[in-house]
Amino acid sequence: MTTTEKEPQSSKLTRLADIVDESPAIQKSQAGSANVLPQILCQRYRIERLLGVGGMGAVYRAKDLLRAHFGDPEPWVALKALNESFVEYPDANALLYSEYALTNRLHHAHIVRLHDFGIDQPSQRAFITMELLKGPTLDQLIEAHPSGLPWIELQNIAIPLLQALVCSHKHGVLHGDLKPSNVILTDDGVRLFDFGLGQAMDGLLPGLPRLSRKRIAAWTPRYAALELINGEPLTASADVYAMACILYELSGGLHPFSRLTAQQAKDMQQDQSLQRPANLPAQCWPALRNALAFDKQQRTMDAVGLLEVFSAPKANWLADVLRNSWPVRPRSGN
Ligand SMILES: Nc1ncnc2c1ncn2[C@@H]1O[C@H](COP(=O)(O)OP(=O)(O)O)[C@@H](O)[C@H]1O
Ligand SMILES: [Mg+2]
Repeated sequence: MTTTEKEPQSSKLTRLADIVDESPAIQKSQAGSANVLPQILCQRYRIERLLGVGGMGAVYRAKDLLRAHFGDPEPWVALKALNESFVEYPDANALLYSEYALTNRLHHAHIVRLHDFGIDQPSQRAFITMELLKGPTLDQLIEAHPSGLPWIELQNIAIPLLQALVCSHKHGVLHGDLKPSNVILTDDGVRLFDFGLGQAMDGLLPGLPRLSRKRIAAWTPRYAALELINGEPLTASADVYAMACILYELSGGLHPFSRLTAQQAKDMQQDQSLQRPANLPAQCWPALRNALAFDKQQRTMDAVGLLEVFSAPKANWLADVLRNSWPVRPRSGN
């Protein structure tokens, strides 16, 4: 969740503090109030300005003084630290490490590239450094296109984004918080980031700490699959539901269920009246609709299936090409 989403910051912090209280692994520190983030971390990264704030962290533009020392013309990085409400908890650093470890398993052109995880000794503040992304988040893009993106532009975002999700699931990493504000459109394509609520699939990375999923308020509720709202564990299918909400919103400019949670939308039977966004080719609709199913048993679509339909050429477009390039001529008899 970012500051661009219109919710009072205080409510977000309270809800996240609630989550931590629920997690058996995380107990409140006796240490008192949190340290303020120093301006220079590990004698290496100098914080320059705030880039964005989410439910768990704040991301800053920072100068890597080591790179600058060696004359690197691009010494800037993005540096993520936990919000101050979090650092009072002794396992807070491990949570940030978990985000680092999950993201670091993934090497993909459309997933943010991490540099390092560090702990500044004097302040005991943990941080992640990563590539500095420049460009709008997808929620800013959606706001600028209230009727949705034209198909070709949509495809240029949907395909790499789905490739990133396919890669993530293939490597056993569930994102857990897919939403437009966790994707930035840079000059060289989209980047998916913020695996802070991510989890490894069963059996992988067993030593990493896990957030309690019982307090669903930690999620951005309108992208959370119904089963997550009901306290069930995160699965690849829940990621698919969230991704389908993003793709729907990109193609029509509107959230599929009027920004309601899956539970509210189900109660109002909003799925019965769900319409295909005008910019979305008809061939993509059955798959996207299936991915938006409230009932996880009916949501049989996976990231690979969505990628297939979004990658296919638009059926009408193909018909047009064939019509124009296939002159009807009598065959010469030979
Ligand atoms: N690598 C990055 N480069 C530039 N801006 C970033 C980067 N990572 C995050 N941001 C900005 O900071 C915001 C919060 O980051 P995020 O990782 O989503 O934190 P949270 O886990 O608290 O939601 C993002 O919405 C985005 O605007
Ligand atoms: Mg975020």
